[in-house]
Amino acid sequence: MMKRSTVKELLGSGETNREVLLKGWVRTRRGNNQVAFIAVNDGTVIHSIQVVAVMESFPEEVMKRVTTGSSIAVRGLLVESPGKGQQVEIQAGEIEVLGDADPAVYPLQKKGHSFEFLREIAHLRFRTNTFGAVFRIRHALSFAIHQYFHDRGFFYLHTPIITASDAEGAGAMFRVTTLDLDHIPRKEDGSVDFSQDFFGRPTNLTVSGQLEGELGALALSSIYTFGPTFRAENSNTPRHVAEFWMIEPEMAFYDIHDNMDLAEDFLKYLIRDIMENCGDDLEFLNRMVDKTLLERLEFVLKHPFERTTYTEAVRILRKAGRTFEYPVEWGLDLQAEHERYLVEQHFERPVILTDYPGGIKAFYMKQNDDGKTVRAMDVLFPMIGEIIGGSQREEKLDRLQNRMREMNISADELWWYLETRKFGTVEHSGFGLGFERLLMFITGMSNIRDVIPFPRTPRSAEF
Ligand code: 4AD
Ligand code: MG
Repeated sequence: MMKRSTVKELLGSGETNREVLLKGWVRTRRGNNQVAFIAVNDGTVIHSIQVVAVMESFPEEVMKRVTTGSSIAVRGLLVESPGKGQQVEIQAGEIEVLGDADPAVYPLQKKGHSFEFLREIAHLRFRTNTFGAVFRIRHALSFAIHQYFHDRGFFYLHTPIITASDAEGAGAMFRVTTLDLDHIPRKEDGSVDFSQDFFGRPTNLTVSGQLEGELGALALSSIYTFGPTFRAENSNTPRHVAEFWMIEPEMAFYDIHDNMDLAEDFLKYLIRDIMENCGDDLEFLNRMVDKTLLERLEFVLKHPFERTTYTEAVRILRKAGRTFEYPVEWGLDLQAEHERYLVEQHFERPVILTDYPGGIKAFYMKQNDDGKTVRAMDVLFPMIGEIIGGSQREEKLDRLQNRMREMNISADELWWYLETRKFGTVEHSGFGLGFERLLMFITGMSNIRDVIPFPRTPRSAEF
């Protein structure tokens, strides 16, 4: 039996005038009574390969079934193409329809469906050029992330998905339980008796692997996590999903400057890697989705990121001479509109903001000596706003305990975290990169729902 060749192999092969076997899905078909031109795609590359079928060589019943969306196997001769638009094509010798796609009901008939519509048929949107490109890039980006850290001696650490702690104080978490919701066991005071739950205590899906990541870094020096995280915030924006993937490196002996250097180098490496390895897909997205995409990627690579403080950012925003939807005041968190103003209008490059007010940041961030700010760092990107959040960590036990008391965080629950500050504590830092946010930036897709295969958002968990 002949071995199947992928479209990628066939288009990349200079070796013509040979028998090949192709399998894939019909994208389009045109032609007339004499000859059919069938574009076949198998997802291995953005391009389809053209199959030329002389009508009289094939039974009418077979050719009738060769319609958009059907899957076919073609055996034929790979030849140089006389036509424009492709270098090679296949002169079909045998055609077998593997699976029909009734044109009366197959939803991907016409070109140019809206992304909103395609979200409703997320099970089929992989078959479009745009989503093929996005998900090939998603793969390549995952691979590049592992490569980057592996080459630099970081260890990939698998932190738990189910957790009994609320690391961020980020609030809304998804409860994990095996209790029967129709018959919830209660204690005498009426509260839920979690001792009868699976873990004997309340548990949730994690919002971040950081706290466990720190435990790893304080022995292995440099680790990273790369896994799903969950947030039950009711945020219906183009930049939030309830289930997203986060990359969280954590490094012993790094201060905030080392942390910023790593974040900038990491982001530039990833963008460069995708530009080198996913050129065809990027070129397509640049043409069809966002005409300034490649320009923007180049631009980020060219300039050093601007580094300044939160306090300075607030000063700039207050002087901006324009009204924002949300107020700008020292002590309040910055919103996407503020972040984008700083990046797109003021500095015109990515910005790393540091030294945020302690009141709007998590308990574990290293406290500055001014008693007001913490050694946080957020990396802000064009189009996206915050793409990375991180900090140097508080390594002093007493300061950490004080802050936890102030913020009503239970020291009993986090006894294991505190012990790393009791035994051989060291300066250390880390950050979290939102995988889908970076994918949005790299693909030019403007809605986060379009860079994750099956998005989870409030009131939506189809597929
Ligand atoms: O700023 P965040 O909340 O930081 C942390 O979770 C830290 N524990 C990270 C660390 O220091 N190890 O989240 C980090 C990043 C954000 O900058 C953003 O890119 C992304 O995660 N993110 C989301 N992405 C999609 N949907 C959401 N709902 C997101 N929330 C945060
Ligand atoms: Mg953040």
